[in-house]
Amino acid sequence: MEIHRYETIWFAASLLLIVGFIGTITYGAVGVGVEMVDDSGGTVDPDNLGSHERFGDTGVHKVNESHYEVNMIAVHPSFIPSEIEIPAGSTVTFYMTASDVTHGFKLVDSNLNTMIIPGQVSEITAEFDEPGEYGFVCHEYCGSLHHEMAGNLSVVPEDEWGGVDS
Ligand code: CUA
Repeated sequence: MEIHRYETIWFAASLLLIVGFIGTITYGAVGVGVEMVDDSGGTVDPDNLGSHERFGDTGVHKVNESHYEVNMIAVHPSFIPSEIEIPAGSTVTFYMTASDVTHGFKLVDSNLNTMIIPGQVSEITAEFDEPGEYGFVCHEYCGSLHHEMAGNLSVVPEDEWGGVDS
């Protein structure tokens, strides 16, 4: 049986496309360090955040010389805190929860992205090696002022850093 030359070419091209698609999906899933946010952060009573040991004390806290924690509450239409400053070269773990409705957190120019759900603690860790400004926004529609719900993370040179929140 003879297969027409053009048919062979198209067959090879479509096969190549399928292999390419599988390749990009595989790369996206395991090659670029994407990690899902899971339930390891635990749960919290959204009506009593003020007396919670972590969320009663929002802001930046030091774990050791190079590791910091940021405790954050999302409440329409703000992040508390909305201005965060950390020294370059540090690892930061964000603990986030919401006191009213479901919000989102997306740090621009990074792959940090999570939902913030009342009663649930979202925990994500990232390293910030170079000084820079990173905006963050709420990406879940949460009310009439959703579009204003934003903040800023400043990564500053170590000698310019103002210290942890008291
Ligand atoms: Cu919070 Cu949209």
